[in-house]
Amino acid sequence: MLVTGLFFLYFCANLSGAAVYDIFTGEALSDEQLSIYQNANLTETCTVNITSCDTEELRRVDGSCNNINRPAKGVSLTPPKRIVLPVFDNDYNPRKAVSGNSLPVSRDIGQTILSGYKRNDCNFTQLMTSFGMFMFWDVGALNNSRWYPGNSTLLSYQELGCSNDSVLTPVVDVTNVFDLSGIYNPGNNGDKEIRSYVGGELLDDDDINETDSSLSDECEYRRYEHFPTMPLILMRTWFVKYHNYIAGHLAALNPCWDDERLFKESREINIAFFLQTLLYEWLELFEGREHLINVGILANDTGFRDIYDETKYPTVSLEFLYISSWFLSTLDANAE
Ligand SMILES: *[C@@H]1O[C@H](CO)[C@@H](O)[C@H](O)[C@H]1NC(C)=O
Ligand SMILES: *[C@@H]1O[C@H](CO)[C@@H](O)[C@H](O)[C@H]1NC(C)=O
Ligand SMILES: *[C@@H]1O[C@H](CO)[C@@H](O)[C@H](O)[C@H]1NC(C)=O
Ligand SMILES: *[C@@H]1O[C@H](CO)[C@@H](O)[C@H](O)[C@H]1NC(C)=O
Ligand SMILES: *[C@@H]1O[C@H](CO)[C@@H](O)[C@H](O)[C@H]1NC(C)=O
Ligand SMILES: *[C@@H]1O[C@H](CO)[C@@H](O)[C@H](O)[C@H]1NC(C)=O
Ligand SMILES: *[C@@H]1O[C@H](CO)[C@@H](O)[C@H](O)[C@H]1NC(C)=O
Ligand SMILES: *[C@@H]1O[C@H](CO)[C@@H](O)[C@H](O)[C@H]1NC(C)=O
Repeated sequence: MLVTGLFFLYFCANLSGAAVYDIFTGEALSDEQLSIYQNANLTETCTVNITSCDTEELRRVDGSCNNINRPAKGVSLTPPKRIVLPVFDNDYNPRKAVSGNSLPVSRDIGQTILSGYKRNDCNFTQLMTSFGMFMFWDVGALNNSRWYPGNSTLLSYQELGCSNDSVLTPVVDVTNVFDLSGIYNPGNNGDKEIRSYVGGELLDDDDINETDSSLSDECEYRRYEHFPTMPLILMRTWFVKYHNYIAGHLAALNPCWDDERLFKESREINIAFFLQTLLYEWLELFEGREHLINVGILANDTGFRDIYDETKYPTVSLEFLYISSWFLSTLDANAE
C-alpha cells in the first residue's frame, strides 16, 4: 500500500511537471510569492509557467529550458542582462561630468559619429546592414504595447509591478538568444500563427490570402512610423522559404516523421544556418576573423564544437541591444 502510494505520488508529481517562475528574476516562485502576484492580478504579467525540461528535447520556441538548471532564464519577456549599471543625476536626469558641468548632449555625439547623409561603400551592400537589423529584430524586438503612446519611453518591469529593483529595466519581448524569434515566435506569440501544420512547414507569404486582414503577416515590422520594412520582409521571406525547403527534404528522407518532428528539426537547422551566417560571415566583416578566433567566438576549423556553458545566463546584454538597434538608421529608408 505504501509502495503504491509513493508510486502514485511520484507519478502525480511527474504528470504536472510544470513550475511557475518570476519573469524578472527567472527564479522559481514560492507559493507565498505566487499568491502575492495572484492577489495583485499580476500572475499573467509577471510569471511564466514552464513545463519541465527534457534533456533530449529540441530547442523550445519560447526560449525556455535553454539552461536546464534555470529553465526561465532567457524565455521571452525576461529582461536582457545589463553589464554596466547606469549612473543618473537626480530624477533620472543625465549625469554630470566629474567637474560638475553638463556632459555633451548625446544626440550631438551620435550625429558626429553617425554620418547623417548617404555614403557609398565599395565593399558592403545594403545586405550587410539589412542582416544587422534582422539580427537585432531576433533579440531586441519591442512590442508596441511596451511603449507609452506619445513619447518614446519604454515600459519597465518596475512599472508593470514585476520588480522593485532600483534600476529601471525596459521590457523586451522576444527571446534574448539568437533563435530567429522574428520567424518562429513573432511578437512573443509563439509558433501557432505561423505554422501550416503540414509537413513541418511554415505558412509562406505566397500562400497567404492577402484579402484576409486577420492574417496581417507583416504587421510585426510596421511598428515604427518611418520604418524601412522592405529589407526585413525580404530577410524574413528568405528564412521562411528556407525552413520549408529544409522541411521538404527532411520529409523525403524521413517518411515516418510527423509534422511536429519535421517542424522542430527544420527549425534547428534553419537557426544553425542563420548563426553560421551571423558569426562566420557577417560578424567577421566587422571584427575580423583572426580577432574572433582569438577571443574564442569562432572556431579555427570547420568541425563541430560544444562550448555551451551552463553557468552562463542565456541572453544578449542590454548594451548590445541598444548598440545594434542603430542598424535601423543604416537602412535605406527609400527601400520600400
Ligand atoms: C486582471 O488582469 C488581466 C490581464 O492581465 C485583465 O484582463 C483583467 O481585466 C484583470 N482583472 C481585474 C479584476 O483587474
Ligand atoms: C502551470 O501549468 C500546469 C500544467 O499546464 C498546471 O497544471 C498548473 O496549474 C499551472 N500553474 C499555474 C500557477 O498556473
Ligand atoms: C574594401 O576591401 C578591400 C580589400 O579588403 C580594402 O583594401 C578596402 O580598403 C576596402 N574599402 C573600403 C571602402 O572599406
Ligand atoms: C511617458 O508617458 C507616460 C504615460 O503618459 C508617463 O508616465 C511618462 O512619465 C512619460 N515619460 C516621459 C519621459 O515623458
Ligand atoms: C514591491 O513592493 C510593494 C510594496 O512593498 C509590494 O507590495 C510588492 O509586492 C513588491 N513587488 C515585488 C515584485 O516584489
Ligand atoms: C504585445 O504584447 C501583448 C501582451 O503580451 C500581446 O497581447 C500582443 O499580442 C502583443 N502584440 C504584438 C503585435 O505582438
Ligand atoms: C480570402 O479571404 C477572403 C476574406 O476572408 C475570403 O472572402 C476569400 O474567399 C478568401 N480567398 C481564398 C482563395 O481563400
Ligand atoms: C588558424 O589555423 C591556421 C592553420 O592551422 C593558422 O595558420 C592560424 O594562425 C590560426 N589562426 C588563429 C587565430 O589561431
